[in-house]
Amino acid sequence: MSNIDSVYIHIPFCKTICSYCDFCKIFYDKKYIKDYLDSLAQEIKTYYKDHIIKTIYIGGGTPSSLSIEELNRLFEIIRTFKLAEDFEFTFEINIEHINEEILALLYQNKVNRLSIGVQTFNPKHLQFLNRNHQKEEVIKNINIAKGLGFTNINIDLIYAIPNQTKEELLDDINMFLKLDVNHISTYSLIIEPRTILYVNKVEYIDDELDYAMYKIINDKLTQHGFNQYEISNYSKPGYESKHNLQYWNNSEYYGFGMGASGYVNNVRYTNTLNINKYIKNCFRDLEEVVDSNTKLENEFLLGFRKTKGINKQEFYQKYGITIYEIPQIYKLIKEGKLIDKKTNIFINPKYLYLSNEILINFMV
Ligand SMILES: C[S@@+](CC[C@H](N)C(=O)[O-])C[C@H]1O[C@@H](n2cnc3c(N)ncnc32)[C@H](O)[C@@H]1O
Ligand code: SF4
Repeated sequence: MSNIDSVYIHIPFCKTICSYCDFCKIFYDKKYIKDYLDSLAQEIKTYYKDHIIKTIYIGGGTPSSLSIEELNRLFEIIRTFKLAEDFEFTFEINIEHINEEILALLYQNKVNRLSIGVQTFNPKHLQFLNRNHQKEEVIKNINIAKGLGFTNINIDLIYAIPNQTKEELLDDINMFLKLDVNHISTYSLIIEPRTILYVNKVEYIDDELDYAMYKIINDKLTQHGFNQYEISNYSKPGYESKHNLQYWNNSEYYGFGMGASGYVNNVRYTNTLNINKYIKNCFRDLEEVVDSNTKLENEFLLGFRKTKGINKQEFYQKYGITIYEIPQIYKLIKEGKLIDKKTNIFINPKYLYLSNEILINFMV
């Protein structure tokens, strides 16, 4: 059995539904929670094979929508995992749920990284996204978290919101910088089918403005000591998300909970999106054996998302061939789209914004 270092746990409950959200989620309903957590415990008992875990990520949905009692049960389940000494344990928390009681509970239960979906600080855009927090609350609650000893905090930011101006985006970035946290994930708004925005026929902003916004984010954050270590992710040195790097390194991981995906023993799987099935302990929906070509394809599609790209030595150790034996690598280096420098090959930063056009070359 291969080594698995990471665990993702999905908590699908949300108290309100955001207008852009296509994630696996359902309205918080107390009647489901006990059964859901019992099934989660059962799923972990069935599939977890005592690996030493280096990263845990509890995401949603809204994990912080659970009551203190429900969270206690969740953490009791999580104590099943054998943890490495320097583990990273991330918990997604919505800003309106931050208070001393919940933070103390997270802290006691070894959570050492918070991920907070702020999206924007602008009241007009928050309303458009159907997020019901306020800028003042964000500032106050992040300071509470910092005061209680959380030093590793991520904020999610959405940009390219219809009618958002470059100045408004710059205000968001400046506000983020003032908060002095060490990680930010930035997302250009996607209008996903099956969302309120889609039903309302909301249109994308134009490509030029989208690029200008990406540039504003990139310039401002890098000027202030942030490193773009993945297309959409920036951190202060040493605060890269170890958990997300596992995905981009094409490593295996456990995924537990409704709608979660995982990659275990060469199989990529997705759990059911149906709460009634999940609480009857019918977990897996799709399972796909990853053949050697697909594994290689994923290595490029995921690995080139990192600005450091792919380490040539590690590639050789993993696949038993040199990376130069892949014809597309040679071609893209020649075209100046990939850069071959010392130990690594990575996307030329000039082309990162359009990385999909490069990645497409690796699809089989
Ligand atoms: C797993 S999701 C949701 C996390 C958490 N439930 C919350 O709302 O904060 C993580 C992030 O993806 C981003 N995201 C979700 N849907 C998006 C969309 N349609 N377009 C752009 N970004 C999106 C948001 O920034 C969100 O915080
Ligand atoms: S963005 Fe987060 S809080 Fe909003 S509906 Fe989706 S999962 Fe729930």
